[in-house]
Amino acid sequence: MDEQQQSSYWDGFLPSDALVMKRAAVISDSLEKIASELQGCVRCKLCSGRKTIVLGEGNPKAQLMFVGEGPGEQEDVQGRPFVGMAGQLLDRMIEAMGLERAQVYIVNVVKCRPPGNRNPERDEIESCSPFLYRQIDVIRPKIVVALGRFAAQTLLQAEVRITQIRGRLYPYRGAQMMPTFHPAYLLRNPESKREAWEDLKKVAEFLEIKIPSRL
Ligand code: URA
Repeated sequence: MDEQQQSSYWDGFLPSDALVMKRAAVISDSLEKIASELQGCVRCKLCSGRKTIVLGEGNPKAQLMFVGEGPGEQEDVQGRPFVGMAGQLLDRMIEAMGLERAQVYIVNVVKCRPPGNRNPERDEIESCSPFLYRQIDVIRPKIVVALGRFAAQTLLQAEVRITQIRGRLYPYRGAQMMPTFHPAYLLRNPESKREAWEDLKKVAEFLEIKIPSRL
């Protein structure tokens, strides 16, 4: 191969300009930038009923990230994700894995409370999900746990049923993704807690966390 042929051969392996620009955008992005862009957000109709925008919280360098659906009443008042009844169960699930809540990062698909805790609607998810993707790209966890249908559907961008896809790891944005049941669902259906625990044990195994024995 002559020099000219060699250089065009290697061109095929170079990232496109678009890829380079995307990488640069991710590198220059930050949780602070995302928070400031969401300040006073009026991108969807949820803005009219919310008290606070619940951005998410936790270790910005977390290896493990949990994605829920949207803030409930308590979360809306306190401005923090998963602080109500479902949050207390999530805390116990995290602790059962041998971790503390402060070690992980917790976010929601929509950052404002849907009125009366109704399901988030398609247009609301479409407005808010780019911020979720950016949060994942900035934090760069090793694994993302999608809590429930809305998180799993938003991350996979597919109309999936949580019962069909839960319990398996999926490659996701350079990380892995584990869909499992939402803690609020588990509160209503405690018989599914065993399956959710099996899913979380796989997450712990992937992260090489030794699960504390419960005597
Ligand atoms: N349910 C969610 O999906 N997120 C919260 O923050 C609280 C309850």
